[in-house]
Amino acid sequence: PSLRMDVQDGLLFEDVPLHLIAERLGTPCWITGAGTLRRRTRNLHHAFVQAGLDVALHYAMKANDHLATLTVLREEGCGADVVSGGEFLRAVHAGIDPAHIVFSGVGKTNAELTLALRHGIGQINIESVEELRRLSSVAQHLDLTARVVLRVNPDIDAGTHDKISTGRAGDKFGIDWERVPAIYAEAAALPGIEPIGLATHIGSQILSPAPFKAAYARVAEMVRTLRAQGLSVETVDCGGGLGIRYRDELAPPPSALAGAIRETLGDLDVRLAIEPGRWLAAPAGVLLTSVIDTKHQPEGVPNFLILDAAMNDLARPSLYGSWHGIVPLSPERAHADLVPQTVVGPVCESSDVFATARPLPALQPGDVVAILDSGAYGAVMSSTYNSRPFAAQAMVENGQWQQIRARQPVDALWTGEMLPDWLETQ
Ligand code: LLP
Repeated sequence: PSLRMDVQDGLLFEDVPLHLIAERLGTPCWITGAGTLRRRTRNLHHAFVQAGLDVALHYAMKANDHLATLTVLREEGCGADVVSGGEFLRAVHAGIDPAHIVFSGVGKTNAELTLALRHGIGQINIESVEELRRLSSVAQHLDLTARVVLRVNPDIDAGTHDKISTGRAGDKFGIDWERVPAIYAEAAALPGIEPIGLATHIGSQILSPAPFKAAYARVAEMVRTLRAQGLSVETVDCGGGLGIRYRDELAPPPSALAGAIRETLGDLDVRLAIEPGRWLAAPAGVLLTSVIDTKHQPEGVPNFLILDAAMNDLARPSLYGSWHGIVPLSPERAHADLVPQTVVGPVCESSDVFATARPLPALQPGDVVAILDSGAYGAVMSSTYNSRPFAAQAMVENGQWQQIRARQPVDALWTGEMLPDWLETQ
């Protein structure tokens, strides 16, 4: 396991004592485990190989877009799934071949499409007939051909949190099932467009193989329909969404996803790809944060544990009510008696809560804890709300560690702000 408790050094992540990093860089501080990223990528790849499948991995970099993370995943053979011009340029900057980049997302601007086409992007996932026609004129203007797949909305409920469900009719994502054949035929006829296949993505943190299988079965049916109409379908992009265990969830193993793909799409003679984000990155990250204070409450009410990280750093608990493990770094603290505590940050919002009535050992100001599984949708979703600078970051691997992002200096918070000239400068 990448995390373990040592009697001397306390909590280790990939054999690095986390207290060393907290002492040197201060808190809050994000840690990314490069070895964990590598191991998980290999495990995923292995599951497909075992199932007799050749599946390209396009890492959904929205989960964690740090250049060091992208570099590790590039070294492990991943391409990228991007959702903005910024992500595209970041991926290219990290050395990912544009031919291995897929552009997803429901609103791509003409400027973003132009940028991607000029760099020779491998695939653009089209979300509507309007976008398809717009891309056709952008590509014609550049005298280039866009390789597109149509993202279909299979009308499947992935059974996950409402805010991260994307494949139900009425969600903003994907093309209505019934309209796909006509739009695919139109794509084949449009100048500047080469339709190469279909994509689907039904949501995130999905904990059962059933909705994947249902969605892929519908896509397989669509591949057959299109081919029967004489249209060529070379590729199927199976999206992301594989869930992980944060607490006690029974997350499906990668072999279950591989099995679902093999059973539904395995005989179709299509190139296969997936876009995992969370599964690769979440367990590869922890957030270190110090106790500012403990706030005692009346008998019978859990005390507040006030940390120096807040919802502006890790937004998931306040946004989705999500559960993250919280572990003290010190071995003595980690083994002390547990008492229910409500863990909060300093931001002036009642939703700035990491955990409610969580059984934790009694802690003192200055004690450091790790908030686990925060490598996906963690640092990337940070803001500077309450004028709280972006936290420092470090990477660990094989007993070594190095800083990978400076803590944002406080005066950088107002860099770029200007005063209109009718206001008095002091
Ligand atoms: N592909 C597409 C088109 C997506 O929209 C997403 C995620 C992924 C791939 C990657 O999904 P994953 O493998 O990570 O489940 N902020 C939320 C999650 C939002 C996911 C959005 N789309 C959270 O913290 O739970």
